Amino acid sequence: MPNLIIDGKQIEVPAGTTIIQAADKLGIDIPRYCYHPALPVSGNCRICMVEVEKQPKLQIACYTPVTDGMVVKTNSPKVLEVRKTILEFLLVNHPVDCPVCDQAGECKLQDYYMEHGQYDSRLSDVKVKKEKKAFSIGPTVILDQERCILCTRCVRFADNITKTCEFGVFNRGDHSQLDVYPGKQLDNSYSGNVVDICPVGALTDKDFRFKCRVWYLSQTKSVCPGCSMGCNITVEWDKMRPHQHKKARVMRLKPRHNPDVNDYWICDKGRYNYRFIDENRIQHPQLNNDLISWDQAIDTIVTALKPLQNSNSTNRIGVLASAQLTNEDLFVIRKFFKETLRGAQVDFRVPEVPGDSDAFLIKADKNPNTAGALSILQADADTQQIVQKAKQGEIDVLYVFGHDLVKLFGKDVVEQIAKKVKLFVFQGSNVNDTCGYAHLNLPSSVYAEKEGTFTNCQKRVQRIWPAFLPLGESKGDWEIVSLLSEKLGVLLAYQNSQAIFKDMTAMIAPFSEMTYEKISDKGMILKS
Ligand code: SF4
Ligand code: SF4
Ligand code: FES
Repeated sequence: MPNLIIDGKQIEVPAGTTIIQAADKLGIDIPRYCYHPALPVSGNCRICMVEVEKQPKLQIACYTPVTDGMVVKTNSPKVLEVRKTILEFLLVNHPVDCPVCDQAGECKLQDYYMEHGQYDSRLSDVKVKKEKKAFSIGPTVILDQERCILCTRCVRFADNITKTCEFGVFNRGDHSQLDVYPGKQLDNSYSGNVVDICPVGALTDKDFRFKCRVWYLSQTKSVCPGCSMGCNITVEWDKMRPHQHKKARVMRLKPRHNPDVNDYWICDKGRYNYRFIDENRIQHPQLNNDLISWDQAIDTIVTALKPLQNSNSTNRIGVLASAQLTNEDLFVIRKFFKETLRGAQVDFRVPEVPGDSDAFLIKADKNPNTAGALSILQADADTQQIVQKAKQGEIDVLYVFGHDLVKLFGKDVVEQIAKKVKLFVFQGSNVNDTCGYAHLNLPSSVYAEKEGTFTNCQKRVQRIWPAFLPLGESKGDWEIVSLLSEKLGVLLAYQNSQAIFKDMTAMIAPFSEMTYEKISDKGMILKS
């Protein structure tokens, strides 16, 4: 394996590694525009030039493979001088209007120029104007040709990752411009990713453009709940109003790199699936349309459960849990309904129509935690039977976690259930048609307000972190069930999700030896 020195630091890397990859391993940041670790190398922007000892000319770090004994300097006076001139060249026809550019604050042209710029302009010629400014190239993205530095990252993304080939560079010389092919639109399931990889403000997101300056955003690591792939994401939220209930808190979702799951990408459905975090939320407990306190809500359920517990009629309790819940939520549901109220009928597998899928990331199962629910709940009851029994009055307490029974079974069935069962509880984050029929509605947190884990379709257990406090009076699902257990005199009063997870690893074999620390932000595979 070649051994080399970069900026005085020694490193051994596998043969074939390029200088920029070796520098990345050492934490040395070599400027880059066209290079992206997930795309084929193009070597067109020249900003990554470095000095290699015994070589007369500077070399581009993204294309040059390391050799044994190589000595590289990434910040020598010669390198800095060249970097300056390359930036000057890139800006020849670029508008200098950062204050009104949506990319400001996360633009590599702005960042590198601040660091290495040729501040005294030597330009006297009039800039060559590109043909089209800020125009739509598809449902999600706006292209501004004069801001494009022709790095071709977007071209290579469309050619190699989605293989949809929408982009091309047209014309020659300073008239070269990036565009979609005539008659084509950027309209594929992963289109938003080109905005993330564009190093400047040429490709911007219609959904996010001019909504918020990026320096007002806070980032919280999370996992997309949109399907069982569990792509790693960052929830970006407005830190100026984190707990205001009337304004949207989440501004956008971005992919988070995980080579074992989603690499650098997410699908558009996942990317734009965030409005439910702030909109259409259930914010207060309600009994038959009257606002009540949490104490009253918990008392109402306990009053209905106690006689069943005392008369050994727990089989008259039906619970429809959900694969949208975290492993921790499901474990507490298992402990309370399946172990404490032994005999209660618990399932989570509702009859869903499979969604769209592809051979890349998108999975037909639109739940983030089916694998977790399967290993934790080991459902022995059946949703269809529970619903049937509720309809016939053979269930006294029906407890539904988030499902829209109206959509799944029809209005008539749910109407009948509401008449026949003594207490129909709906616990969920967002209003759906079932809420109108439930006797008691309990507001629960969405994933972005929770700490916990999901298990994806690869059986990878992955952590989520709370970005902000639960909206209104909503509480975590496990917290609500814990309150119930406490009131019923069976102490399951967990203090936090970590304590639940610890208990779970002791009780459920596939999770054994896992800890939050070990799972970290890359995940851990369940033991078979
Ligand atoms: Fe590069 Fe952005 Fe231009 Fe595409 S639009 S070539 S990603 S600068
Ligand atoms: Fe979310 Fe699935 Fe899309 Fe990944 S593929 S971003 S998990 S919806
Ligand atoms: Fe190396 Fe563009 S990053 S040439």
